[in-house]
Formats: sequence, C-alpha cells, structure tokens
Amino acid sequence: MRGPALVAASIMLVVAAAAIAHSQETQPAPALAVDTATGLPEWEKVYAVFSHPRCANCHVDDNRPRWSGPEFPMAKVHGFNVQGGADGSGFGNPGLRCTTCHFATNSPMRHGPPGAESWHLAPPEMVWFGKSSAEICAQTKDPERNGDRTLEEIATHVRDDGLVGWGWDPGPGRQPAPGSAEQTFLAIQRWAAAGAPCP
Ligand code: HEC
Ligand code: HEC
Repeated sequence: MRGPALVAASIMLVVAAAAIAHSQETQPAPALAVDTATGLPEWEKVYAVFSHPRCANCHVDDNRPRWSGPEFPMAKVHGFNVQGGADGSGFGNPGLRCTTCHFATNSPMRHGPPGAESWHLAPPEMVWFGKSSAEICAQTKDPERNGDRTLEEIATHVRDDGLVGWGWDPGPGRQPAPGSAEQTFLAIQRWAAAGAPCP
C-alpha cells in the first residue's frame, strides 16, 4: 500500500503548493517604505531639470512650444504660429512640420533652429511648463500621464532619449539644463528606491 499512499501524499503536496502560490499571487504587494529624507533631495534635482526651459518648453499643455530662458527675458509662444498639430502627433501641422526647420543637429547660428533626431512636441498630459514641483512629481508617477512608464523606464528614457539629450547640448547661446543626463538618470533611480516621495 506504500505506492498509492505516496501518490496521494504527493498529490496533496502539489495541491498545497498551488494553493500557497495562488495566495501569494492574490496578496497585495507590501507597501514600499518611503524614505522622505533621502528621496526628496533627489526629486528636487529631477525637478530642477524637468522644469528647466530646455525641457519644459517642449512639455506644454496647449499645443504651442515656448521660447524661454535667459535668452528670452519674457517667455513667449514659439514664433511662426507653430503648433503640435491637429492630428495630435506633436510633429506639427501639414505644411509646417517641426522638421521643416528643426533638423537632426543644431543650427550653428545664434537663434537658428536647434536640432535633434525626430524633433516634436510632447503630448499635452506630460505638461511641465508653469507647473509646480508637486504637480510634476505626481504626474511623473502616474502611468496615465507619463506614457505608461515605470520609474525605471522614465530613468532610462532620460538617459537614452535623443530629445532629452538635446537639453544638455542645446546649441549656441542657449543655457543647458542643470547637471547631465547620467546624473538625472541616477537621481531618478535614487528617488524611486526611496519610495518616490513628492513635496
Ligand atoms: C523637442 C521637444 C522635447 C524636448 C526639448 C524635451 N522633450 Fe521630453 N518628451 C518629448 C516627447 C515628444 C515625449 C513623448 C515621447 C514618448 O512618450 O515616447 C517626451 C517625453 C518625455 C518623458 C517621458 C514622459 C514623462 O512625462 O515622464 C520624459 C521623462 C522626458 N520627456 C524628459 C525630458 C527632459 C528631462 C528634457 C530636457 C532635458 C526633455 N524631455 C526635453 C519631447 C521633448
Ligand atoms: C518655421 C520654422 C520653425 C518651425 C516649423 C518650428 N520651429 Fe521651433 N524653432 C525655430 C527657431 C528659428 C528656433 C530658435 C529660436 C531662437 O533661439 O531664437 C526654434 C526653437 C525651438 C525650441 C527651443 C526653444 C528654447 O528656448 O529652448 C523648441 C523647443 C522648439 N523650437 C520646438 C518646436 C516644435 C515642437 C515644433 C513643431 C511642433 C517647431 N519648433 C517648429 C523655428 C521653427
């Protein structure tokens, strides 16, 4: 009778293991401890970059990029009636695409059009222009408003994306964003590891 007993015992083990696995699947993930003292200073570094004119001028909610920063004492709407485009693509309206003027590299002339591959406007839900640190922080963590990205994916986007990289190589006469892409990548990772606290 040892054979059937063993079989029965192992079936019970399999059933028990499946039950444990199932209960683990349905348990809510343990809440991540939030370390505000470590995380907030890291977020402030990220905010200093995201809110900088080299980034925020393309992250607007009204379809119109901005010209702003020290070289423009008053922030103003991009000239030539430029808009992100009625099709919602961010690449501009037919006949006046961003790439009519913005090429893959910066114009060497002061006030000439800057350039990077695939120049276009960010979608309106990713608005940073005129927003507070708390507002930008909340939306950066919201998959509905960050292009459905994890915080790790946001960090790698900042490290690797060409339009982001342009913010540190903006062409003659324009002030670059603070720090570097690599430093911002690391600040986002440390902020996320500290539970991504917002002000
Ligand atoms: C020429 C316009 C342009 C500039 C300049 C620009 N971005 Fe963006 N950004 C975009 C577009 C377009 C998207 C949407 C890309 C996508 O979702 O695939 C985007 C999306 C993002 C995202 C992911 C979505 C989110 O809100 O988290 C991050 C992060 C980001 N940009 C960071 C930056 C940073 C940092 C700078 C400045 C150093 C910058 N961008 C400058 C156009 C721009
Ligand atoms: C008719 C030509 C033209 C078109 C079309 C155009 N731009 Fe520009 N853009 C310029 C010029 C010229 C500048 C430089 C302005 C300066 O430095 O005085 C510029 C500058 C910019 C800047 C940098 C502003 C800053 O201070 O950081 C951004 C961002 C920008 N454009 C976004 C766009 C986007 C997005 C589109 C398409 C939706 C677009 N542009 C379409 C000519 C154009």
